[in-house]
Amino acid sequence: MKNQRNSVTIARLTAFICIQERERSMAASQRKILVTNALPYANGPIHIGHMLGYIQADIWVRFQRMMGHECHFVCADDAHGTPIMLKARELGVSPEDMIAEMNKAHQSDFSDFGVSFDHYHSTHSEENRELASLIYTRLRTNGHITTRVIEQLYDPEREMFLPDRFVKGDCPECGATDQYGDNCDVCGATYSPTDLKNPRSAVSGAVPELRESEHYFFDLPAFGDMLKAWTRSGSLQSEMANKLNEWFEQGLQQWDISRDAPYFGFEIPDAPGKYFYVWLDAPIGYMSSFKAYASQNNIDFDAYWREDSEAEVYHFIGKDIIYFHSLFWPAMLKGAQFRQPTNVWAHGFITVNGTKMSKSKGTFIMARTYLDHLNPEYLRYYFAAKLSSRIDDLDLNLEDFTQRVNSDLVGKVVNIASRCAGFITKKFNGELANDIAEPELLAEFQAVAAVIAESYEQREFGKAMREIMRLADRANEYIAIKEPWQLAKQEGKEAEVQSVCSMGLHLFRILMVYLKPVVPKLAQDAEAFLNDTLSWDSVQSTLTGHRIEKFKALLQRVDSEHVAAMIEDSKQAQPTQGTSASSPSTSGANAPAKALGEPLAPEIGFDDFAKVDLRVALIVNAEHVEGADKLIKLTLDIGEAKPRQVFAGIKSAYTPEDLVGQHTVMVANLKPRKMRFGLSEGMVLAAGPGGKELYILNPHTGATPGMQVK
Ligand code: 2FM
Ligand code: ZN
Repeated sequence: MKNQRNSVTIARLTAFICIQERERSMAASQRKILVTNALPYANGPIHIGHMLGYIQADIWVRFQRMMGHECHFVCADDAHGTPIMLKARELGVSPEDMIAEMNKAHQSDFSDFGVSFDHYHSTHSEENRELASLIYTRLRTNGHITTRVIEQLYDPEREMFLPDRFVKGDCPECGATDQYGDNCDVCGATYSPTDLKNPRSAVSGAVPELRESEHYFFDLPAFGDMLKAWTRSGSLQSEMANKLNEWFEQGLQQWDISRDAPYFGFEIPDAPGKYFYVWLDAPIGYMSSFKAYASQNNIDFDAYWREDSEAEVYHFIGKDIIYFHSLFWPAMLKGAQFRQPTNVWAHGFITVNGTKMSKSKGTFIMARTYLDHLNPEYLRYYFAAKLSSRIDDLDLNLEDFTQRVNSDLVGKVVNIASRCAGFITKKFNGELANDIAEPELLAEFQAVAAVIAESYEQREFGKAMREIMRLADRANEYIAIKEPWQLAKQEGKEAEVQSVCSMGLHLFRILMVYLKPVVPKLAQDAEAFLNDTLSWDSVQSTLTGHRIEKFKALLQRVDSEHVAAMIEDSKQAQPTQGTSASSPSTSGANAPAKALGEPLAPEIGFDDFAKVDLRVALIVNAEHVEGADKLIKLTLDIGEAKPRQVFAGIKSAYTPEDLVGQHTVMVANLKPRKMRFGLSEGMVLAAGPGGKELYILNPHTGATPGMQVK
């Protein structure tokens, strides 16, 4: 009976996939698409490694919207779990306050990188509590939940069970000290925390003891056949299908979905003191974010999530969380009578300059540090140029980044407009010619629309960028051959100058349409200059006789000094996840104080300390910085002839008005750093966990500016 039911399930699922594939190929019809991106944990800042996935998904979403499809894009903070609970305790704040602040910081990082979420939510929300309870209750009713008593390490001092990563000790294989409870960094062995020698709780240092507790399990093996059918549908990335096959061969296991109090999460209905494991309610966050958005915007939630939904649902994720998304999540949905995702698309990790991101090398770059120095569209383009649909790692080589952005975006694309626009503005009052000088060349550019669209659709962004740059080369060749600047010197050639420059601008316009999903801000500025709105269909129309606006520089070249300053700042920034509750402006100017209990920096001698010249500074002026979320521009008098300009990441705690006339302490002999917004000539000292609790020291007002601080 069970087998019969399973084969019906497989047949239905296969039919479902076939129908979807057929529908997708009917490009003319408007598709209903929901896209999500992996939810970032709410205990640490976003770094550029995270940004790869968000930028990839955003490019795909922007492309779908340009094609006229109904494409919704949602995300949320992943706000539950032991690390978040402990982090908040360590900082002496409530988890609710900590995650609220982190949520704001994440949203501003994403928005400043141009990630166009329709809605950004939190897994610690009413919608998520309700959906998690509903899914769990349905799973239980359908017989997919069992309970069993298990033994686990317990911290008797903190009175809590310890997750594997919170037990440390000596590796049972090689004896290396200070290893985590799940694997050894030195010899690579994997084991369970009870195998560790000399185990210690990483929370309190106490010797943990084994204790029993009843846990709740989800019956993953019952979904084996359905998951295998999904794997064989042919639409999964091949690396993902291979990974799944490996896991099927190893055999699927029951999944432990409960955790004991104390835990920051949702209590399991009818099971006091037991909480859903963070990974149970995390993917449900996709649904609940969409639910909150749908109810605010009159969108039919069920049309996207009911079992027979014809909408498409895609999850963009990192390769480290494939197991959760390709096994647990589809099985949970199936068992709770919801539709399964149309596809799950994984991307690789990033390396910087060929190696793992490293704080000491300054390559562990926080999103905010990047934004303090560089234009986000550079990174969007660079990632796009190197992305394919495969799960390969991507190297951000900073020299290549500088060179490629300068050569492609500035040197090839924007250059076309800057070479042609001046003539049209000066000589023809901004009017484009009434004719198309080279209809065949225009047709060549138009004909590639379908190829580029297919590359975007297939997430072959690198391929699309190569095709676009090939066209940009063609456009530049055309202008170089015609030499409008020479024609302009010759009498009687006015009409030809107008015609050639208008042709160049038509080609530029098509390139900007093709690039719009990748560099939306540049496209927006190009739209303002062209006095036009760029849709995918714009490729097929022309602007003959149309009036354009005066050309302004559309994009600056990447300045290697800004890249170097970003690296310098990253050396001083907070390290990785879970190190700060605030949304640290990790840019060296006023990185927030280290969290309580965080290891101290290496010891320094008095000579090192004596090198730091601390001075009392009078804040003579303070201003908001256009386009910077965290920074305030300070003008500081330390008794020198010319006041210093310092950018300080203290906007979460102060307004400019709070600061003018106050005294602070600054490091006066810090090498000036070129930031995106200007030169920063020092650093002010700040203390506190961050956010609103960030204090710039305020020596008594009688202090003389420039006085040395001892
Ligand atoms: O690995 C992570 O960073 C998780 N916070 C991703 C969760 S994705 C989804 F399932 F919520
Ligand atoms: Zn070992």
